[in-house]
Amino acid sequence: MKGKFIVFEGIDGSGKTTQIEMLEKRLKSEGKKVFRTAEPTDAPSGKALREALSGAVKRTPTELAAMFLLDRINHNVDKEKGIKKLLDEGYFIICDRYYYSSLAYQGSEIEGDWVARINLDCPDIATPDVCVFLDLSPDEAIERISKNRETTEIYEKKEKLADVRQKYFKVFEKLKGRDNIKVVDASGASEEVAERIYKAI
Ligand code: TYD
Repeated sequence: MKGKFIVFEGIDGSGKTTQIEMLEKRLKSEGKKVFRTAEPTDAPSGKALREALSGAVKRTPTELAAMFLLDRINHNVDKEKGIKKLLDEGYFIICDRYYYSSLAYQGSEIEGDWVARINLDCPDIATPDVCVFLDLSPDEAIERISKNRETTEIYEKKEKLADVRQKYFKVFEKLKGRDNIKVVDASGASEEVAERIYKAI
């Protein structure tokens, strides 16, 4: 039987990491085969992205969009731990960020539909079975970020978070009927949020 491809999205600080860990545990306890993954990936294409995101290497928004695309294609087609292969082997794949991030983050910096087109029309980029959007206000997100981290990346400013959150909602509007998107309230205790997510998926 083919597996399921579950993507988590949300602005920085929305609690994706915690919730992904909790869902992984729960699915495993039900006896399912689970593979956890993320974008940017650990492959060389993902490492190059981290250098750009930290500001160590300056990249234009268009360069960034193309780099994320390459990393995503590689993530799908990799012969050892690619998404396509693992789905064929029956894994539940839980992925931290996917093309919705490109559409929201790069899409808010580049005019037009180009970012959407290169991702959605790419034959080697699988459509997830479900995308869980962890929705949190930028104020709460900033509070969580400053508690948990010493350094911030280029997208972790409050105005930017507010911007990206709005952009996500525009993207979901555009993808209505194409993608299966569940917006989940990410405020409150992690156990409560986990329960909301489990019910939604
Ligand atoms: P990461 O350190 O993984 O943060 P998080 O734990 O919040 O996911 O950094 C990922 C950063 O990359 C995040 O700021 C969003 C950004 N990003 C994009 O701009 N476009 C993309 O396509 C992806 C996958 C991530």
